[in-house]
Amino acid sequence: MRRGAIVALISIALVVAAITTGIAYFVDWLPEQASEERQGIDLVFWVTVAICIFFFAIVAAVSIYAGVKFRVQPDDESDGPPIHGHTGIEIVWTAVPTIFVTIIAVLSAVVLAQNDSPKGDPLRVEVLAQQYAWQFTYPEEGGIKATNLYLPIDRSTRLELTARDVLHSFWVPEFGQKQDAVPGVVTTIVITPTKTGEYRLICTELCGLGHALMRTRAIVLSQADFAAWAQEQPQGGGSAGGGGGGEIDAKGIFTANCAACHTLSKADASGQVGPNLDQLSLAPPAVEQQIRQGGGGMPPFEGQLSDDEIEALVQYLTGSNG
Ligand code: CUA
Repeated sequence: MRRGAIVALISIALVVAAITTGIAYFVDWLPEQASEERQGIDLVFWVTVAICIFFFAIVAAVSIYAGVKFRVQPDDESDGPPIHGHTGIEIVWTAVPTIFVTIIAVLSAVVLAQNDSPKGDPLRVEVLAQQYAWQFTYPEEGGIKATNLYLPIDRSTRLELTARDVLHSFWVPEFGQKQDAVPGVVTTIVITPTKTGEYRLICTELCGLGHALMRTRAIVLSQADFAAWAQEQPQGGGSAGGGGGGEIDAKGIFTANCAACHTLSKADASGQVGPNLDQLSLAPPAVEQQIRQGGGGMPPFEGQLSDDEIEALVQYLTGSNG
């Protein structure tokens, strides 16, 4: 009798475990794996799923067995017997989950520590998040600026993130880990891409009206293609740091600072967050004030761009196609 109950419980648990394991294994739950760091993240995920399946099978077996075996008869209105509890079982159901939660915590800490340490000499990229755009600066490649994140394959990149206004968060699902961008603080995340291709780069912290649109692309190139890309870019991103002489690249400034939010066909920009600049004709003073002071959801660029750069941008936006 008692043996029959144990056999029934174990049988139900095994069936439930087999079904849930099949669902976990055969459904393609996770995005493509495209970084070394993702491997550790996935390990934590699957260990946690295995633990969940184990407990779910036990709970489901007891629930199903009790529901069938101890179902009341239609005419039975009596209460069940009063039961005081069972100290032994209570200790077991406290101790066992504690052990499993500790396993998850230790494994996560090990994976996070590993993911934080780059292999070899990492490429440094400064990431500036703002409502509602990303800007990437490559200080070791002559200060190139870009609105897509270009990365070389098989080399660790250390991203140094900060924010201009509110909290944002960096996430490329194929790379795994997330990292917050916080105003006034520099946070870091290491990525070692293992597959060339284009991936979605998403802001994953609610940051305002344009949050859902605050996305761009992470583009992983072969090491040779990355070097070629870096060579082609205007050094310094149009910043007049040297103190004049060179011509200011207004289109480059627009691409680096404005293209993620605004559509402007002559700059090949197709941002959807802010007004479409192809359909807007404004007087230069109004454009300059908007760029300097922001407003209407747009951040101010006073102090972020030099006076010369702002002037060049105003001319670029209000002058005849040139
Ligand atoms: Cu930035 Cu959400």
